[in-house]
Amino acid sequence: MTFAHITGWGMSVPETILTNDDLSKMVETSDEWIRDRTGIRERRIVGDGQTTASLAVEASLKALQGANLHPTDIDLIICSTSTPEHIFPATACLVQDSIGATKAGAFDLLAACSGFIYAVNMAAQSIRSGAIQNALVIGSETLSRFVNWKDRSTCILFGDGAGAFVLQASDMPGGVLSAVMHSDGSGGDTLILQGGGSKHPATEATVLEGKHYIEMDGNEVFRFATRVMAQATRETLEMAGIELDDVQWIIPHQANIRIIAAAARGLKMPMERFVVNLDRYGNTSTASIPIATVEAAADGRLKPGDRIVLVGFGAGLTWGALAAEWTGPLPTERKVYPRRYRAWARIRSFLLRITRVIEGLIWGRGS
Ligand code: COA
Repeated sequence: MTFAHITGWGMSVPETILTNDDLSKMVETSDEWIRDRTGIRERRIVGDGQTTASLAVEASLKALQGANLHPTDIDLIICSTSTPEHIFPATACLVQDSIGATKAGAFDLLAACSGFIYAVNMAAQSIRSGAIQNALVIGSETLSRFVNWKDRSTCILFGDGAGAFVLQASDMPGGVLSAVMHSDGSGGDTLILQGGGSKHPATEATVLEGKHYIEMDGNEVFRFATRVMAQATRETLEMAGIELDDVQWIIPHQANIRIIAAAARGLKMPMERFVVNLDRYGNTSTASIPIATVEAAADGRLKPGDRIVLVGFGAGLTWGALAAEWTGPLPTERKVYPRRYRAWARIRSFLLRITRVIEGLIWGRGS
């Protein structure tokens, strides 16, 4: 029997910090209100030249390094994002080219803030079926590029960042144990970005109407979130055949400390068993769960053998939870340096582009 283990992890956040005090100079708000109503103190914001793909590449290289895998070992790349580099091509393909993952299939997955749970589940299923051996799963967002900085009800919440996991096949029991995924499209308009899609293609009018910004009914999303977090956690644990008492860490989507506290009350679990870092990063959507996981692993909270639950909710509406046994890198003799592949990947990408140009000249375009 094959199991899908989480063997590598990495994160990348921009250096630029936007504090609540900074925000209070942009919109009518205060540090006190934001901390009190959300728990957020500051968030990271991308600078010039940083994009969803560039954050994803950084997080991915760290995850590969941790797992001791070459980019060329990866069979599948799933990039979960709601703020992709472009509508198409997929951001996952840009990552594939950038890290030199020559044999990987690559696609983006959009399930908003629940996306990372969906993506890890998809990768784990592919591994367990025997179809692939190694997968790279990324959650990456640049929400600051889609936020209306004049709307105090949304701009205080979101931040930028990326996290990535490497999943590997092994016959050692453990890894991803179960997952549940849910959706309710009837609530789609409670959290939406309307502009630039096929219903409202970009025009001068859509830009003037502010349709390219995130719109949210905060109270509605809040009620929905507090309802589903505990419920999804229980469902996935039941599927895995694990008791709540056997779980060391719940790693929730980092949207609002009051939502996490409601989940803790619903599960009758102390807040100390929830990994929380939203005070420093805000809501980074699909990147929030992997970033919180990476920090918990880095500071020693997460140990091999620990049982964890990842649980999240988001636009769609979507929600889900995933139970796993934390593994760490699989034993291996080799030491790899995925970053060294980048120069080679750049040359490879350049040569492929040149080849395409030369082929176009030889064969003619459109013939
Ligand atoms: N600063 C100061 N006051 C603000 C404010 C801000 N940034 N944003 C809203 N307010 C005001 C409102 O205008 C309202 O004023 P009023 O009473 O005079 O009308 C008051 O604060 C209360 O607004 P309300 O929306 O009821 O606040 P809240 O306590 O519900 O908090 C959210 C608002 C958005 C923080 C909260 O609803 C939330 O977190 N929702 C979930 C959002 C989410 O997680 N989204 C992502 C999903 S993945």
